[in-house]
Amino acid sequence: MTIRLGIIGCGDMGESHRSAFAELGDRVRVTATADVELDRARAAADHFGAELATTDYRDTLDAVDAVLVVTPHDLHAEMGLTALRAGKHVLMEKPMAVSEQECLDLIAESSDRDLVLMTAYPMRFHPLVRTLKNLVDQRLLGDPFHMSIWTEQLTMPAEGHWIRSAKRLGGGQLFSHGCHYVDLLLWFLGRPERGTHMGSRLGTPWMEREGTSDLIMAFESGITGYHFGTWGARASRMGYSIHVHCVGGMLEADLTNGRLYAHHGWDGPAPRGGLAETLLPPADAGELLVQTEADDKHLGGEIVHFVECVETGQRPLTDGPGSLQGLRVIWRLYEAEERGLVADLRGLGLDEDWRGAGRASLPG
Ligand SMILES: NC(=O)c1ccc[n+]([C@@H]2O[C@H](COP(=O)([O-])OP(=O)(O)OC[C@H]3O[C@@H](n4cnc5c(N)ncnc54)[C@H](O)[C@@H]3O)[C@@H](O)[C@H]2O)c1
Repeated sequence: MTIRLGIIGCGDMGESHRSAFAELGDRVRVTATADVELDRARAAADHFGAELATTDYRDTLDAVDAVLVVTPHDLHAEMGLTALRAGKHVLMEKPMAVSEQECLDLIAESSDRDLVLMTAYPMRFHPLVRTLKNLVDQRLLGDPFHMSIWTEQLTMPAEGHWIRSAKRLGGGQLFSHGCHYVDLLLWFLGRPERGTHMGSRLGTPWMEREGTSDLIMAFESGITGYHFGTWGARASRMGYSIHVHCVGGMLEADLTNGRLYAHHGWDGPAPRGGLAETLLPPADAGELLVQTEADDKHLGGEIVHFVECVETGQRPLTDGPGSLQGLRVIWRLYEAEERGLVADLRGLGLDEDWRGAGRASLPG
């Protein structure tokens, strides 16, 4: 059976998704597109050969079995709920929605109606990230003790663009972009215990809330997780990269250049202290394990997974409850940041018991 898909929102990301359908052949067909800017909906419909292009997303619902929602964040919940209530599966661009209640409503609606609700977190399906996860799990370089994720971008939206608005974005850079990496840190490292976020608008004065974000979390395992993300980089050394320090060396996913390295442990004389003797060789001496296409977002993986879930009824890897957990971490970090506290990240429903775990209040 071919799944009929509607694309709601045909802006930048809607366009990026175009190449992602290639792997699916006739398992999915885009039959309708919607955008308040009709020419964008029409351009997408022309690209896919869809019969319908409209400015009102509700008009797509009779022509589809599932929708991909690719709109500003404050519209996600209303669009997702309307589609679910019409009996359609939903692939929601990240972040799922801008409040806990909206997320709970979406999850309840999809679960009551037995429909797929999946958040689009493509990093979970990125071949380098998946291989890195396997190598960490297999302890290729021994036990991990620190994982850091670096994303340096320049995102300078035009005057009046919704991304500038904290209300429309649902927060700042951490909420909008960091949600990918909070999701990855939880996937790799398990349950966090406590954490701190420090956001800054310096360098990104166009953002109402932070455009640069530093986040650190301590996990139950004792491993530290760290994420640095900026939308203000005028130059970049790290690009997009992930480093996992293990007792036997360091694994590096250089996502910008599509390479995965193992940097084996130092085998020279034991450092005896003093800076000169503890300097390690530069990282480009690593063993290249995987080379993929450089700078490819690999959006195909998430679409294939969504289609599989619709076809088989299986639960998506990035399902509603899982995505809510990551957002709860971010909301708790924001709350603690405002109050100058370290966030207690325990008891956020980071397991099957996600329903009852609300946002417990912080100590006074
Ligand atoms: N996974 C990723 O790497 C990634 C990257 C960028 C954006 N995104 C996500 O994609 C989504 C869209 O972001 P974007 O960068 O494409 O934004 P965008 O502003 O380029 O596109 C949004 C589109 O939605 C349309 N729109 C607005 N209101 C609408 C309505 N009521 N009905 C129909 N269409 C409407 C706009 O006209 C616009 O074309 C967001 O959730 C964002 O976080 C994901």
